[in-house]
Amino acid sequence: MRLFATCARGLEPVLADELRALGADQIEPGRGGVAFAGDQALLYQSNLWLRTAIRVLRPILQATVHSADELYDAVQTVDWSRYLTPEHTLAVDCNVRDSALTHSHYAALKTKDAICDWCVRRWGRRPNVDVRTPLIALNLHIERNHAVLSLDSSGESLHKRGYRPILTKAPLNEALAAGLLMLAGYDGRKPLIDPMCGSGTLPIEAAWLALRRPPGLTRKRFGFQAWLDFDVGLWTAMRDEARRGVGRRLPAPIAGSDRRRDAVAFARANARAAGVGHLVTFTQRDVRLLVPPAGPPGVLICNPPYGERIGTDEELRVLYGALGEVLRRFAGWSVWLFTGNAALAAEIGLEPVRSIALFNGAIRCRLLGFEP
Ligand SMILES: C[S@@+](CC[C@H](N)C(=O)[O-])C[C@H]1O[C@@H](n2cnc3c(N)ncnc32)[C@H](O)[C@@H]1O
Repeated sequence: MRLFATCARGLEPVLADELRALGADQIEPGRGGVAFAGDQALLYQSNLWLRTAIRVLRPILQATVHSADELYDAVQTVDWSRYLTPEHTLAVDCNVRDSALTHSHYAALKTKDAICDWCVRRWGRRPNVDVRTPLIALNLHIERNHAVLSLDSSGESLHKRGYRPILTKAPLNEALAAGLLMLAGYDGRKPLIDPMCGSGTLPIEAAWLALRRPPGLTRKRFGFQAWLDFDVGLWTAMRDEARRGVGRRLPAPIAGSDRRRDAVAFARANARAAGVGHLVTFTQRDVRLLVPPAGPPGVLICNPPYGERIGTDEELRVLYGALGEVLRRFAGWSVWLFTGNAALAAEIGLEPVRSIALFNGAIRCRLLGFEP
């Protein structure tokens, strides 16, 4: 079957690599996601293993639609008894771009009506709507009048790993953090340091990567578990095998630090919730005091404040200048900075050897690579 995994813009090549590693076929990176082909096992594997994906969609209808009525008619052509019963609860999520239909909420409503009317004709009953935790979640994407209606096999967004209940200021989305680590070439075998770790997302994602722990291992529910064709035996065997493969020790140290005491406390709590609290070290320290640890060089990666959400400009210019000094101490290391402010990045005074465009939500950002 054809499938589509969504991700933050800029991470498509990383997601494509992840899919290749899982054995997916016909991999085609697009905008904000990657199309691929695979069977039911691959659908489950991708939900369990993909670190950079936000959700995995299974398209069931494609149609050209110029109006709400055309959309309604197209949705009615689907044999819904293949996918749901009146006992299922339902929700439709919709996004529209450059199309005659401009209101995503209205398009979602029309789709839901079409499905419910179809069910009433077939069974005399219709599924209830549950926008928060539907058993069957549908995603409607309309771009230049081309509508794709998909079953959402993930349900809740895959970046919600479950280890970060507590939010500090400006945390990094977990899937984006994993993507940054992979773009930085981190594979778990070298030491890793994040000297501005905030809630600890980069060190925690690094630990999961290094231990080969799938991000979906302890997740309570995936969308596909409510599908009519859910193969509980296949899923449980797959998850149990993945669990047995999780490493117990880190091949190389992972450390985070932050100048804020509360951030360090949050990071520790999150790491414990992620099952890696005993493996990752968190320290309260100003980045200006950072020196390379003894031992072989590794990867230094961080996401300093960049003004969109925290910090003031002058303070930040001074901070980025100081960061430049610190990074120069890390000769032989692979050094990466993720920032949404190019002017501030210039204050570092080092020429980046790599510059990768990415989005953090709606904010244009860059992952800058240095070889000090
Ligand atoms: C954008 S946040 C990092 C978010 C983090 N990646 C996460 O996932 O939660 C920037 C962090 O830099 C820290 N910070 C700011 N100035 C610092 C300094 N001089 N030394 C160390 N940490 C600093 C802040 O306390 C904040 O936690």
